[in-house]
Amino acid sequence: MSLQLQRTTFGNPANNGNVLSKQEAETLLNEWVLNDRLKLHMKQVANLMQSWAREKEQLNEADQWRWEMAGLLHDADWDQWPDQHCKKIIEELEARQIDPEIIRAIASHGPNHFGVEPETKMDKMLYAFDELSGLIHAYSLMRPNGYEGMDIKGVKKRFKEKAFAASVNRNEINDALLKAGLSLDDAIAFIIARQGSVA
Ligand SMILES: [Fe+2]
Ligand SMILES: [Fe+2]
Repeated sequence: MSLQLQRTTFGNPANNGNVLSKQEAETLLNEWVLNDRLKLHMKQVANLMQSWAREKEQLNEADQWRWEMAGLLHDADWDQWPDQHCKKIIEELEARQIDPEIIRAIASHGPNHFGVEPETKMDKMLYAFDELSGLIHAYSLMRPNGYEGMDIKGVKKRFKEKAFAASVNRNEINDALLKAGLSLDDAIAFIIARQGSVA
């Protein structure tokens, strides 16, 4: 299922820096996403985005939250309005006059689906983390100790098995990592080290 957005600009530059409060974002998440698995996925991606912004980009707390917010809300409309994914959340954030960079990152999290190419670092990292985070979580669920003791090799083995988490498109992950300038090993290591603590 995919919906081409058929536009390449999002939000209003006058809204640069406008964000939802953590409380507002959480309320939106809880109202729109009823599926706990999807909610966890969004929290996991949010955590990865915030960690990357802090550790690798050395951004300040306000900017870290912008990255986190993009991760937290990127699939907000998927649960109840899958045929409007991700048009609905984008329009909601535009109506709430949110920072265009956050909206753009959400709009470009699946270039093959939405027709929007990732451009900024925020765009690229959201695209890079999204599917790989899901594959690694699926792997954790079939391991007796979850994330404990998980290594890069084990993840790569599952990555190569087409039947495992078959809905996760490996070509998209490779494409995303190429765009982000990140190796598969480094991306896996980054996720393994941080994702297990998200609940
Ligand atoms: Fe999505
Ligand atoms: Fe996602």
